[in-house]
Amino acid sequence: MTHFDKPAVFARAAAILRDNDRGAYTIPTKGLYPFQWNWDSCLTALGLRHFDEARAWLEIETLMAHQWPDGMVPHIVFHVPDDGYFPGPDVWRTGRPVPTSGITQPPVLGFVLHRLFEEASDRALAEEKARALLPKADAWHRWFYTMRDPAGEGLVAIIHPWESGRDNAVDWDGALTAVPSDGVVPYVRRDIGHVNAGQRPHKAEYDRYIKLVQIFRDLAWDNARLHDASPFRVVDPGFNAILIRSDEDLADLAATLGEPAIEAAARKRLALSRAALERLWSESHSQYVAFDRVAGRPVDSASVGGLLPVLAGVEASRMQALARRIRAWTEVARFGVPSHDPSDPRFEPKRYWRGPIWLIVNYLLADGLRRAGFEEDAILVDANSLALISEGGFAEYYDPLSGEGLGGGAFTWTAAMVAELITIARDDS
Ligand code: DGY
Repeated sequence: MTHFDKPAVFARAAAILRDNDRGAYTIPTKGLYPFQWNWDSCLTALGLRHFDEARAWLEIETLMAHQWPDGMVPHIVFHVPDDGYFPGPDVWRTGRPVPTSGITQPPVLGFVLHRLFEEASDRALAEEKARALLPKADAWHRWFYTMRDPAGEGLVAIIHPWESGRDNAVDWDGALTAVPSDGVVPYVRRDIGHVNAGQRPHKAEYDRYIKLVQIFRDLAWDNARLHDASPFRVVDPGFNAILIRSDEDLADLAATLGEPAIEAAARKRLALSRAALERLWSESHSQYVAFDRVAGRPVDSASVGGLLPVLAGVEASRMQALARRIRAWTEVARFGVPSHDPSDPRFEPKRYWRGPIWLIVNYLLADGLRRAGFEEDAILVDANSLALISEGGFAEYYDPLSGEGLGGGAFTWTAAMVAELITIARDDS
């Protein structure tokens, strides 16, 4: 590993978390993302716990205070007005008391709750907080399998690329062609006022992101109708793997807390979803791939979304294959793990989710590898993550070939992951 001063890096991570702290929630970064984002906040809590456990629980409580009555947890909570971001509450118009967006994000909550609980030093506080949050997480999971898997397949669809968290992944290119771009109300993007446009999605994608918001808004954000009405419905293996792992962690937490009904419901969902995930396996890519529910066919795109099932407790031969993929990609892209197969001509090392490395993804991959006994692979992924901090600072994402920091700077979830990694590295040594 590139030599760096661990205490200094840890202190810098703490300073970033402090600086982006808005009291009861943390913004991802100044300027570009001035509100509370769903999976950012959950993963940020993992970093906050190293400095203040009560504050870590509060991060999650604030997010869950804005859960919708139907169980959905929105992807953005607009706590305060800020016109530096588009699309703001006036575009979403979801009618919530505190404005929120109307779509969701990868459900890392169950995974995070379990970890916060297991690692807590203040046991009484952890028990009180986890007990209160558990039914809310369960309601969100039930929402997924009701609203986003109406046929009961065991796999949930995303209805907007932003829900995947991997906004402009190659995975969505084909499915987005089914989304019309006519009738988009003229708008001004704010993201490219903060970040170099070459590191962000194209206008053609943005038009469709906004068109989808308009379509859902016209349906009054009625989740009972949105799935079938959406021209974009894609089953993302990464998203489903995260949900599966969170359901497993939720079940374990429910068992520990003596909540048998929640545990039984989660285990029942798990039996179906684990088996269903196998339908996304691609022999030719030797990894999982997305499935376009509108077109009715698998998506020919080898992205990191198809490697995230390492998190989900897949069988040993699958784990072997995925670990091989991670190693092979890291041989081409020295700072691995890139968000897209670096040997694919569609790989773009600087453009957001079409190639760059994200530390939160590395973290999730390393967790899955470690849990399945691939300790050396996990250590390499962790070491590469820390090397990126030396190379590119606390960036939003990184060029996997050069290590250059890209996107927003002084980034919260990157700092949170560093706090976690430094602790894990200490335990390893
Ligand atoms: C953005 O605005 O880029 C976000 O990723 C959407 O959540």
